[in-house]
Amino acid sequence: MSGLTIKNVRKSYGAVNIIHGVDVDISDGEFVILVGPSGCGKSTLLRMIAGLEDITGGQISIGGRVVNDLPPKDRDIAMVFQNYALYPQMTVAQNMGFALQLAGAKRAEIDEKVGEAAKILGLQPLLDRKPAQLSGGQRQRVAMGRAIVRDPKVFLFDEPLSNLDAKLRVKMRAEIKALHQRLKTTIVYVTHDQIEAMTMADKIVVLQGGKVEQVGSPLELYDRPKNVFVAGFLGSPAMNFLEGRITGGASPALVLPTGTGIELASAPAQSDGREVVLGIRPEDLSFGSEGSVTATVTVVEPTGSETHVALELEGKELTWVMRERAELTPGQKIQLSLKTPNLHFFDKASQQRL
Ligand SMILES: Nc1ncnc2c1ncn2[C@@H]1O[C@H](COP(=O)(O)OP(=O)(O)OP(=O)(O)O)[C@@H](O)[C@H]1O
Ligand SMILES: [Mg+2]
Repeated sequence: MSGLTIKNVRKSYGAVNIIHGVDVDISDGEFVILVGPSGCGKSTLLRMIAGLEDITGGQISIGGRVVNDLPPKDRDIAMVFQNYALYPQMTVAQNMGFALQLAGAKRAEIDEKVGEAAKILGLQPLLDRKPAQLSGGQRQRVAMGRAIVRDPKVFLFDEPLSNLDAKLRVKMRAEIKALHQRLKTTIVYVTHDQIEAMTMADKIVVLQGGKVEQVGSPLELYDRPKNVFVAGFLGSPAMNFLEGRITGGASPALVLPTGTGIELASAPAQSDGREVVLGIRPEDLSFGSEGSVTATVTVVEPTGSETHVALELEGKELTWVMRERAELTPGQKIQLSLKTPNLHFFDKASQQRL
């Protein structure tokens, strides 16, 4: 059993509270991603799991054992950082075997474990090179190899791909996911990149200001975000938001602050008269019929597979991702429909999902 339990964990630096009571349950073998904006406490939480940072309050257990007071080396975890920190004077093989050597392992055992990890990561032809003779992606793989040879209960990753260019990031994303499927070791992975989170995680933990906003599978969070923050954080381009009041009972509409009403496919029960934030994903907009609301096209960006269209609706900017190729030009007025079943309603005051 190598799950990980984080119970009411808090962290302060002097009088400043950074983490305000975080609870997360991670099952054995699960790939969990912590996401959130810069400064929300992701690295601090990871460093507390690793034992590199004291815990001000609460409890962390790994594999059923409370580790609050265990030094990092006794926690059976391996951490991969953003700047891989390879030893420049050592070869790839020496870098990967160094921790085992320090722990007093025999030569034959080191060679075997390094060989296995090199095979998993496709590093066999590079074992005699120095880090300076490797590409960014290869260095990243060596850093992972160093973690793998230790055969830890839990891998901790802190933004391991942020130094790589966009194309290599996509490739390494797939490699790390495949690696997890092969090794089935518990992974806690920190990123502020919501696409990394959506594509790799079994479970995402969204943090903001040292608090957990929501925990769930990528699609649970995408389809049913609990509040406006999570709704706006996951998804690219981001969800569109319109503030207004619900009216109309059986045939509901959203009345914008300008007084314009927009027909909706549905509204939450007993929401008549309520001030809401309406969320609609860019792929859920469509052309409206005669009499629907009018929007103005401001920017048209064809990406090849789809077209991103920026629209202006009563002073608000909306993004529409169109799958079909439309002949739209900036300045053009179009009829827009919000009549999709995939609307997200949030209470305006509390920002919570209705
Ligand atoms: N040693 C410290 N003393 C005081 N404050 C600190 C210390 N280390 C971190 N902080 C503060 O704690 C907060 C959380 O920092 P942390 O590094 O965990 O953020 P993060 O979510 O990893 O951000 P990023 O995405 O930028 O890496 C920040 O406001 C930071 O300024
Ligand atoms: Mg960080």
